[in-house]
Amino acid sequence: MTALRVLGIETSCDETGVAIYDGDHGLLTHEVYTQIIHSQHGGVVPELASRDHIRKLLPMIERVMANANTNPSQIDAIAYTAGPGLIGALLVGASVSQGLGFAWQIPTLGVHHMEAHLLAPMLEADKPAFPFIALLVSGGHTLLVKVDGVGQYQLLGETLDDACGEAFDKTAKILGLGYPGGARLAKLAQTGDRSRFHFPRPMTDRPGLDFSFSGLKTFALNTVNREPKLDQQTKADIAYAFEDAVVDTLTIKCKRALQQTGIKCLVVAGGVSANLALRQRLDDLGKRLSATMYFPGFEFCADNGAMVAYCGYQRLQGGEHDNLGIQVKPRWPLDELSRVHT
Ligand code: KG4
Ligand code: ZN
Repeated sequence: MTALRVLGIETSCDETGVAIYDGDHGLLTHEVYTQIIHSQHGGVVPELASRDHIRKLLPMIERVMANANTNPSQIDAIAYTAGPGLIGALLVGASVSQGLGFAWQIPTLGVHHMEAHLLAPMLEADKPAFPFIALLVSGGHTLLVKVDGVGQYQLLGETLDDACGEAFDKTAKILGLGYPGGARLAKLAQTGDRSRFHFPRPMTDRPGLDFSFSGLKTFALNTVNREPKLDQQTKADIAYAFEDAVVDTLTIKCKRALQQTGIKCLVVAGGVSANLALRQRLDDLGKRLSATMYFPGFEFCADNGAMVAYCGYQRLQGGEHDNLGIQVKPRWPLDELSRVHT
């Protein structure tokens, strides 16, 4: 029997992503479009996001199918992000998927966006083996999870306020770097003076694996307000101090999670996993603890269709598929997912 070939569709926020994953041949192709319209509004405008997904999705599916030399009869199932995310944006992906599934007479499956992120490092040749600890750091979430298998997730810690990527974006905005500025802040931080400012490491002085990032953004704002002149070097110095505090805090919590569980494998995923300082610091931690660190390829850190296709493939193979009716879940705790029997 040939393995499943899955079309994956991501529309949970401001990226439209489409991919085809084949159980025998791996990822055949993928494409991502990042909506630029939100930058002039300083944040994602949900209604504009939905409309842009509607405009982009079908032509993108056609292109991806053509690039993979695949016609509808060769697609066995469609996986789409069913949540968490913006409800209107999720509905675009869900309704297009279910419409195509009905027309092509194949099953569809709504997948969990953070599970898709968590499994993204499995798209690489060197895959992590279960069990592992996952640090999920994106614009909407910051989670530490013990992963025993697909669908076997134990939440170890989460943010009590802003998500890690959100704190990057808000601090970038304070520094006048535009939206979304996480990656721009990280680039600017490379030229920062390492000794000029020192930011706190929130919640590292007490036990536990939860995070809090909103205070760092306020600290950045107060630092900016105290500076008589916000020149380019001062911005870079603040960017460095902010990034260093976030990276240090994440590293301290990852170290705790690995030591508490005795697990020797850490997977980092989500948009912030593209951050080079974080990768470097966690690689150093891995060496000290004799633990192996896994990151997604850079193109699979932020939202994309490939991780959705792969996640759907895992669950479809386990016998899951949608029931009738379009169901999206703007809020959907990761530990509510069911275990996949392989
Ligand atoms: O996973 P993602 O694409 O979307 C969500 O599911 O939220 O993550 C986007 C987040 C944004 O906050 C963005 O600023 C951040 O990831 N990000 C970064 C970097 N690249 C993207 N943050 C820090 N350093 C980066 N290099
Ligand atoms: Zn995401």
